[in-house]
Amino acid sequence: MELNIALLPGDGIGPEVIKEAVKVSNAIAKKFKHRINWKFGIVGAAAIGKVGNPYPEKTHEICVKSDAILFGAIGDPKFDNNPNAKIRPEQGLLKMRKKLGLYANLRPTFTFKSQLENSPLRKEIIEGTDLIFVRELTGGIYFGKRGRLNNGETAYDTCTYSRDEIKRLALVGFELAMKRKKKLCCVDKANVLESSRLWRETIQKMEKKFPEVSVNYEFVDAVAMRLIQWPKSYDVLITENLFGDILTDEASVISGSMGLMPSASIGNDTYLFEPIHGSYPQAAGKNIANPLATILSAAMMFQEAFQLKKEANLINELVEKSIEKGVVTEDIANGKKSYSTSEVGDWITNQI
Ligand code: IPM
Ligand code: MN
Repeated sequence: MELNIALLPGDGIGPEVIKEAVKVSNAIAKKFKHRINWKFGIVGAAAIGKVGNPYPEKTHEICVKSDAILFGAIGDPKFDNNPNAKIRPEQGLLKMRKKLGLYANLRPTFTFKSQLENSPLRKEIIEGTDLIFVRELTGGIYFGKRGRLNNGETAYDTCTYSRDEIKRLALVGFELAMKRKKKLCCVDKANVLESSRLWRETIQKMEKKFPEVSVNYEFVDAVAMRLIQWPKSYDVLITENLFGDILTDEASVISGSMGLMPSASIGNDTYLFEPIHGSYPQAAGKNIANPLATILSAAMMFQEAFQLKKEANLINELVEKSIEKGVVTEDIANGKKSYSTSEVGDWITNQI
């Protein structure tokens, strides 16, 4: 099979972890007789530095022409503490999501046996956790009308959703639930927000089409609580953009390391795969960042974008094996011998 993949390493540790995912993907391609055409694009602070735009048109063209996008991370501290910076790396990410129509963001949380002790939660609470968030990614308060009034002394952001936006997102959730434990939790704030009431109303109507899926509705504040009290009670959770942003960060540490969780974004015509962690600028260039989340994102890519299950499974198994054998970076080495970013990637590549 011929796979056209856009490669967007981005900022911070992005390039280092992407490099390992590329190594692994190329080895998989060789073993299973595929051809990968990588097309490199600049994005984020790296792109601001080069062309003054965090998501240049040229990068967009590369993405549009590809079957899938493998993305590293975006963000640079030099922009963070400057509220007046007009151009920010994050704008590139938001522009990319919007222009590519990446409306559904899949963020799983699952556990690895050897990492249970690293979680901030007790082992018995997290063992067996296997949940996935479907976060709406191109609407809501992120993209609503915003501005300043009253000579700049008052500011506002608005959260707007249409029934169609909710429906297409919920459909991803229902279909995913059908492939899993058939449990769907709709996270909203319908006791306060009108947009949440439209979410509830829309999803309630869809329930009839999926009689096998048991659906429940929970308020976002209660979910924030129950997520750390009893994460195993969840299977698929669907929610709007901002709630999803917050809850998926919370969920990402349950497993013991943020450096382990992959993610996928589904668009109208393309898919994007990226690690859940950010650009971790303090570690950039040191060859210490954990490449496993990005390697697992590559596995998700083989599976979701190309339906190449065997390929994906092999990567997943080898990641698990590397963790079991302790061939891991220092963040998850539990004080034992640790390996560099590239050594972890090399080990998995050699196993393939
Ligand atoms: C994420 C990030 C982004 C978001 C930022 C960088 C704009 O936090 O992917 O979760 O808020 O969506
Ligand atoms: Mn976030």
